[in-house]
Amino acid sequence: MRGATILGTGRALPPRVVTNAELTALMDTSEEWIVQRTGIRERRFVDPGTGASDLGAEAARVAIERAGLTPKEIQFLVFATLSPDLFFPGCGVLVQEKLGMDTIGALDVRTQCTGFLYALSVAEAYVKAGFYDHVLVIGAEVQSTGLELSTAGRDVSVIFGDGGGAVVVGPSEPGKGILSSHLHSEGKHARELMVEAPASIEHPRISKQMIDDRRHLGFMNGRSVFNHAVRRFPEVIHEALAGNGLSVSDLSVVIPHQANLRITQAVAKSLGVPPEKVFSNIEKYGNTTAASVPIALDECVEEGIIREGDLVCLAAFGSGFTWASSLIRW
Ligand code: COA
Repeated sequence: MRGATILGTGRALPPRVVTNAELTALMDTSEEWIVQRTGIRERRFVDPGTGASDLGAEAARVAIERAGLTPKEIQFLVFATLSPDLFFPGCGVLVQEKLGMDTIGALDVRTQCTGFLYALSVAEAYVKAGFYDHVLVIGAEVQSTGLELSTAGRDVSVIFGDGGGAVVVGPSEPGKGILSSHLHSEGKHARELMVEAPASIEHPRISKQMIDDRRHLGFMNGRSVFNHAVRRFPEVIHEALAGNGLSVSDLSVVIPHQANLRITQAVAKSLGVPPEKVFSNIEKYGNTTAASVPIALDECVEEGIIREGDLVCLAAFGSGFTWASSLIRW
């Protein structure tokens, strides 16, 4: 079987920077609390009228160009987001239209923080199987329109930000590019990190009462998320290495989902790698959910942190709970 590799990367961040000081003016929090607990100093929020599909399309344009391709040469696309422009249809079809692509298949993935890695595994499988030659993979989020910017929502709202990232996956020689993907879920924790409404289980699925009860806003059991994340990240990275007969010392860089700086630091410690081998940019963007891994990957490529021949591990953990890794020989 042929290999599958990343041919180009791109990212899109809205220009509007929102500092911790700005949030401090809106709720009972402090610069110190946010930085100490999360490592975040600022994040980006979109201006009204920009959706996840816009950030995704912008990042995709860059990734396609860097792959040396045009949108017409993309044969399939996968879009991961928990914040779609519409309840349905998903963002995939919106990107197909925005980029003027042919009437290709457009698949939406909704595994939240691990969405990009699930989406990447779909592209990997299609390309390795020879089904498609060029698959676009996008992770993009507009979190800001779903945040409660007041003291009642402070535990969630200081963490999240908006952004988009994309890659193009294409064929490679075997043993080069994406070596393997490892995907997991444990649905008994579904309600530990969720947005409940609109909910098809309710009649009607959204009501004024539900809004008054704040059921349309994010709920997070922060402690539970933290405790599971620090266990699952190292576990799924070890799984990827073992599956390829490699070890931690072979790793050039780990790019984890940017959940929280303390989680990233705990992952580095647990793996026994120096902190600088575990990439972090959370201080600039906050947690951008499905967008965080492709944004970080694009920055690593641009800054020369990843070079040809490097062994790169992408890893994520989040709502579901879901967790995943992807091991790449660059
Ligand atoms: N500013 C100030 N105080 C805040 C706050 C904020 N933005 N948010 C919550 N608090 C308060 C709480 O009300 C609580 O107060 P109380 O003790 O009087 O009840 C206290 O801070 C909670 O403190 P603590 O329990 O020490 O928080 P923590 O150390 O567990 O940190 C998180 C909270 C959310 C930062 C932490 O649990 C975490 O990182 N979880 C993982 C979150 C994550 O990564 N989510 C994304 C998943 S992909």
